[in-house]
Amino acid sequence: MEPKLVLALFLLISATATSEYTRPPTRKTLDFSRPSKSSSHPQQVHISLAGDKHMRVSWVTDDKSAASMVEYGTSPGRYSNIALGESTWYSYLFYSSGKIHHTVIGPLEDNTVYYYRCGGGGPEYKLKTPPAQFPVTFAVAGDLGQTGWTQSTLDHIEQCKYDVHLLPGDLSYADYMQHLWDTFGELVEPLASARPWMVTQGNHERESIPFLKDGFESYNSRWKMPFEESGSSSNLYYSFEVAGAHIIMLGSYTDYYEYSDQYNWLEADLAKVDRNKTPWLLVLFHVPWYNSNEAHQNEGDKMMEAMEPLLYAASVDIVLAGHVHAYERTERVNNGKLDPCGAVHITIGDGGNREGLARKYKNPQPAWSVFREASFGHGELKLANSTHAYWSWHRNDDDEPVRSDQVWITSLVNSECVAEKKHGMRKILMGP
Ligand SMILES: *[C@@H]1O[C@H](CO)[C@@H](O)[C@H](O)[C@H]1NC(C)=O
Repeated sequence: MEPKLVLALFLLISATATSEYTRPPTRKTLDFSRPSKSSSHPQQVHISLAGDKHMRVSWVTDDKSAASMVEYGTSPGRYSNIALGESTWYSYLFYSSGKIHHTVIGPLEDNTVYYYRCGGGGPEYKLKTPPAQFPVTFAVAGDLGQTGWTQSTLDHIEQCKYDVHLLPGDLSYADYMQHLWDTFGELVEPLASARPWMVTQGNHERESIPFLKDGFESYNSRWKMPFEESGSSSNLYYSFEVAGAHIIMLGSYTDYYEYSDQYNWLEADLAKVDRNKTPWLLVLFHVPWYNSNEAHQNEGDKMMEAMEPLLYAASVDIVLAGHVHAYERTERVNNGKLDPCGAVHITIGDGGNREGLARKYKNPQPAWSVFREASFGHGELKLANSTHAYWSWHRNDDDEPVRSDQVWITSLVNSECVAEKKHGMRKILMGP
């Protein structure tokens, strides 16, 4: 071909890369038939942050007498510390879970590799604690499931240098089939045993049955998060701090109306945030409030009506949601309108589940919507310092993680927004 023609073609292709991208079909659910191991063998090992300088190690054993013990240290094979934890199990119709162990280890050094072993034997695992200071990087992917696309997303996340994984709901897509929680645990173990996974509930975690099961039993038993450590009375909403970020995990399927327990807890948690210590304020939940995809339209409206004023008053920087199987990023918005003091909303429910992508968008694109695309992928959020963060979204393109959207986000910490709102609050508290 003529060089000029090649150039013209290249320009044409690159100019329309987003819209011309031919989306691959959904991939099959993975097959998990695996050799059986001894009944005390630790399965589904994952870790999560558990208060300042502590980490919770969770795993499952078939053996109901296995000890909830973790041995750990900073050199391979040499465990200078031992921690004992708690255990639980649950039954669900004809299914009975293994023994689910939760053991908190620490105090741990920041930004340090630890080697650990569960239950006094079995293989050695390796984790890295997050740094105490910027920069800190989060991997973000929601609506994971356990298909070939999930594997592709996980492989890409593994290639990225990150400190903590954030998951805005919909983990296993077990949907009442309890053994699928076990296979999901096995699928994510390589990543989730090495970096803390901080998760919140989605609709696929609920699994309630009228008169029989309240909901979230499997999720709460298996994915214990630091709710007690953050003054919450429920595993379904909590907060934690990493480096200079205060991160709040809310429940889209837990009562959120004014003066509900979750609402009251959120209000109290926001009041405790010290922006000098944690200049970044992030919030995650499952059902997006700003969504221009036709899927799940308006499902988040009631929660938004109840809670957006609290987030706005606290100058939340970024909201991460899932649920819609596509990617979308907004400008700073509040109350449905562009607002420099509102949060940037990102929908990242494109982890790779079996239900496939949500391809239909509302037109015209709302003023607040900057980038939207229905492809599987994951996000990376690097907080560079107290004012600058780099967000990028990586599409799973032919099994390569192609960076398709990226933006620098500046925090509201030094903005008029925070100062004005503080002033406003003071006025309310102290009178005119
Ligand atoms: C924060 O990071 C941004 C991007 O790298 C840089 O331009 C800025 O100067 C940094 N600010 C401070 C206070 O270091």
